[in-house]
Amino acid sequence: MEQTQFESDVKFPEQADFGRKELTLAEVEMPGLLGIRKEYGPGQVLKGAKISGSLHMTIQTGVLIETLQALGAEVRWASCNIFSTQDHAAAAIVKAQTANVFAWKGESLEEYWDCTNRMLTWPDSDGPDILVDDGGDATLLIHEGVKAERAFAKTGELPDPASTDNLEFQQVLRIIRDGLKAGNAQKWTKMSEKLIGVSDETTTGVARLNQMSQKGELLMRCINVNDSVTKQKFDNIYGCKHSLPDGLMRATDVMIAGKEVVVCGYGDVGKGCAFAMQSCGARVVVTEIDPICALQAAMEGFQVKKLSNVVGTADIFVTATGNKDIIMKQDMAQMKNNAIVSNIGHFDNEIDMAGLESYPGIKKVEIKPQVHRFEFPDGHGVIVLAEGRLMNLGCATGHPSFVMSCSFSNQALAQIDLWENRGTNKYEKGKVYKLPKVLDEKVARLHLPALQAELDDLSEDQAKYLDIPKAGPFKHDLYRY
Ligand code: NAD
Ligand code: ADE
Repeated sequence: MEQTQFESDVKFPEQADFGRKELTLAEVEMPGLLGIRKEYGPGQVLKGAKISGSLHMTIQTGVLIETLQALGAEVRWASCNIFSTQDHAAAAIVKAQTANVFAWKGESLEEYWDCTNRMLTWPDSDGPDILVDDGGDATLLIHEGVKAERAFAKTGELPDPASTDNLEFQQVLRIIRDGLKAGNAQKWTKMSEKLIGVSDETTTGVARLNQMSQKGELLMRCINVNDSVTKQKFDNIYGCKHSLPDGLMRATDVMIAGKEVVVCGYGDVGKGCAFAMQSCGARVVVTEIDPICALQAAMEGFQVKKLSNVVGTADIFVTATGNKDIIMKQDMAQMKNNAIVSNIGHFDNEIDMAGLESYPGIKKVEIKPQVHRFEFPDGHGVIVLAEGRLMNLGCATGHPSFVMSCSFSNQALAQIDLWENRGTNKYEKGKVYKLPKVLDEKVARLHLPALQAELDDLSEDQAKYLDIPKAGPFKHDLYRY
């Protein structure tokens, strides 16, 4: 589909050819997305759909974008993290004009939210038909916009960025306020009315959607991509198992073998991280609040400790909880000299960056972009990766293509289903749905041949014995894998 009024904002357009070469290599490693192009491309199942996306603008995302475009969609894209864009990927997409892209590595918070706004703002329409989100920032902007427009209509009151000390939320309020001041009093309301739905990629984004749904505040139809087994049990585990050591090594080149590594949180991401560090020869300690996950970690041979009991001995810390306030400034003050502090969870609030930045007498030295040494007044320091944001995407290139093909096949199928059901009542506004297990199994099936994996066939007799359909689904919905 040709783009109407092509727009873009990327940093290094001259890297487009390099980006294209890497996109071409990635396609071979993404059989799920290529399979979806083959199956749904000829029918142009997304023809007429305007898709906005807020998801790390990497090479792998480039293959997703070009899949959506190959199925007929018009696409606008921004990254969901200030450090995760691969500039050559963004440049290649822009050169091919397969999507309008607004993203570069190292955005300021102001630039990040402006890019999100531009990605959502369509020149010839009230907004996108469908949204791909990762972590919920784009969804948040729309909801806050609607809230502010309702208040403005009632009282004439404008949102005040100074009303919050949250630096990100200040930007959200700035954008909404400026739109209202410019006389655009219905932008977000009209956008939310037009929007068919959103599919969110990650644990934290889905948690936000579920919270809004429970409070009755969710304005959209939503698909939870994270909880597809072929996303959660692959990307979160095997993806992080690959990209955590990649991030640590590219950032610091530190020897991992023999070191004490603390992984905070032993959910799916934490499991991948703990196993990766163990395979590098580290002595791995896990911290948890959930007795089930703590017991799992203990039975895999990891030590399970309170953070306070290892804060002074460990060499490397990785937060993977999706929670806030995990490693605080007073913890970092007690750490060994040059202990590495990093986060692989979605947001930057797992590590108390504000507390560290404002610690009395602290000195911040940039070793290189996304690697900083914070020196305490007594001369000892900690090395912080990606300023407390996702270190695997800030200091390395995130997960590799093969595992992202699993995640993004679910994204593509979710977008197709939302679009194809725009006129039905399959999805209700305000509710969060998962994709059906047959599609999850389809995604897995698309990836087996590349690994020379063979499946046995279930006989009629065996299917009857297990009381499951011969062609699947092979497990009930609550099976845990
Ligand atoms: P999860 O819910 O499976 O695991 C989080 C674990 O942290 C849980 O077991 C929970 O009990 C534990 N936890 C919560 N508070 C804690 C605390 N105070 N101390 C210790 N443990 C605590 O979630 P997940 O799927 O593993 O995702 C974790 C985070 O990583 C989310 O923010 C998610 O969005 C993000 N994520 C990042 C990537 C990436 O590429 N960097 C990929 C997938 C998911
Ligand atoms: N999340 C983790 N790794 C990623 C990648 N390579 N591209 C997009 N999103 C990701």
